[in-house]
Amino acid sequence: MTNTVLLTGASSGLGLAIARLLCRGVDRLILTARESSLPRLEAAGIQASERVRLRALDVTQSSQRRAVVAEAEADWGGVDVLINNAAVTYRAVVEHVNEAERLAQMDVNFLSPMHLMRLVLPGMRAKRAGRIINISSVGGMMAMPTMSIYSASKFALEGVSEALWYEVRPWGIKVTLVEPGFIHSRSFANTRYTVDGQDSMLHADDPYHAHYENMAPFIARTMMRSWATPESVARKVVRVMRAKRPPLRVGATLDAPMFSLFRRLTPQRLYNALLFRMLPNVRRWGPPSPDHS
Ligand SMILES: NC(=O)c1ccc[n+]([C@@H]2O[C@H](COP(=O)([O-])OP(=O)(O)OC[C@H]3O[C@@H](n4cnc5c(N)ncnc54)[C@H](OP(=O)(O)O)[C@@H]3O)[C@@H](O)[C@H]2O)c1
Repeated sequence: MTNTVLLTGASSGLGLAIARLLCRGVDRLILTARESSLPRLEAAGIQASERVRLRALDVTQSSQRRAVVAEAEADWGGVDVLINNAAVTYRAVVEHVNEAERLAQMDVNFLSPMHLMRLVLPGMRAKRAGRIINISSVGGMMAMPTMSIYSASKFALEGVSEALWYEVRPWGIKVTLVEPGFIHSRSFANTRYTVDGQDSMLHADDPYHAHYENMAPFIARTMMRSWATPESVARKVVRVMRAKRPPLRVGATLDAPMFSLFRRLTPQRLYNALLFRMLPNVRRWGPPSPDHS
């Protein structure tokens, strides 16, 4: 059966890899990116055609969200598969995220995917079929220092997706969270620093300087060492899209199920203590305290 697939954030990384893979299939595609990033899709060899539309969609823009879904409804009978992939990543400790930055993070990664889900669900319910694939993260099941607000956005996406899984099952609508761990890509270059985070990075005497100084290269190194690529994760996403009975959560990299088992099977206090000890150079993150031992 030919489906209509709506993909967000198709201009780079995982989104671009999913777009490339989908172009080889037979589905009707609405591949979206922010207007300024659309040319990158064409530069990557993705051409518009009878079954492939390239559309501007800043996921935070209500009018653009409505326009792409309305177009799919008018021309192709609605969206059968929604892939919420677009995201931004702020790296900041809790004390360094101001209100505007908090809202920006939650808007792209949580509120906008939720708006899109709400737009496509009535059509899916009418057809008694449909799939919603939300790209989450291992950061959506375990939080790391300096990734507070990113994790909060993915935890929120996980909560809503889990509730939705039950809510729309009676209509045969399938909801899946794809959870990648570290992906070997240069996406860490897109990580945003908050105003206070940036300031802390530049000043060695800032109380949180060591947090950033150690976490940023640690995450970049771990990503570059990962075996998973945007292409391997994209294959997983497309497999989920075709699966008859996809589970609610799919670990999308080799490390993802490991992290999940570690999180679920280790007693909570031990888990937190072990993770703390594993943080790079954590003993140098602050003044010595008995809690650090
Ligand atoms: N890379 C990893 O290791 C990793 C691990 C776990 C989960 N993930 C998740 O995987 C997904 C893809 O991430 P990635 O690694 O491919 O990162 P990426 O290369 O930074 O891609 C993010 C995409 O989201 C788009 N985007 C950002 N804000 C947008 C907005 N307001 N409207 C529409 N599009 C917007 C970006 O567009 P522009 O090009 O216009 O900025 C870009 O295409 C995300 O959900 C991320 O959280 C990634």
